[in-house]
Amino acid sequence: MSSRSTSSEIDGFEIGIAEIDLQHRQLNQLLQRLRNSADKQYGYAANAILGELVIQTRIHFAVEESLMRLLSYPETEAHIAEHRHLMEQLDKFRLRAQDFDVADGLASFIQTWLHEHIDSFDRKFVAHFIGKGIDPSAAPKVD
Ligand SMILES: [Fe+2]
Ligand SMILES: [Fe+2]
Repeated sequence: MSSRSTSSEIDGFEIGIAEIDLQHRQLNQLLQRLRNSADKQYGYAANAILGELVIQTRIHFAVEESLMRLLSYPETEAHIAEHRHLMEQLDKFRLRAQDFDVADGLASFIQTWLHEHIDSFDRKFVAHFIGKGIDPSAAPKVD
């Protein structure tokens, strides 16, 4: 793994919808912070970051799920099932995350899951969303 900036680890995972790519980058940055705090054995900090990660992940999934429903995406249910599966696993891990080894393992697990999910699921809705007329370059202004 390179030692470049944290966001570099999501390079190659852009799907081409700016707002969703921004959310994926933000999740990746939280994962990197979780890893860094785990390295330093800050169990309490890791737990706080994990709490934030859980919230941001829920928000991200809710955004994708709303878009899929509103745009009548045919594979909505299978995609939502994948999101639910991860949230269940996260909730289980979370109970043990004050142990920094668990937090580090958890960050790797979620990062791998995120990349695989983006490649096998998120990429698939792009053509459908654009076909329905969304603006792929629309994104919130970030300070
Ligand atoms: Fe997704
Ligand atoms: Fe996503």
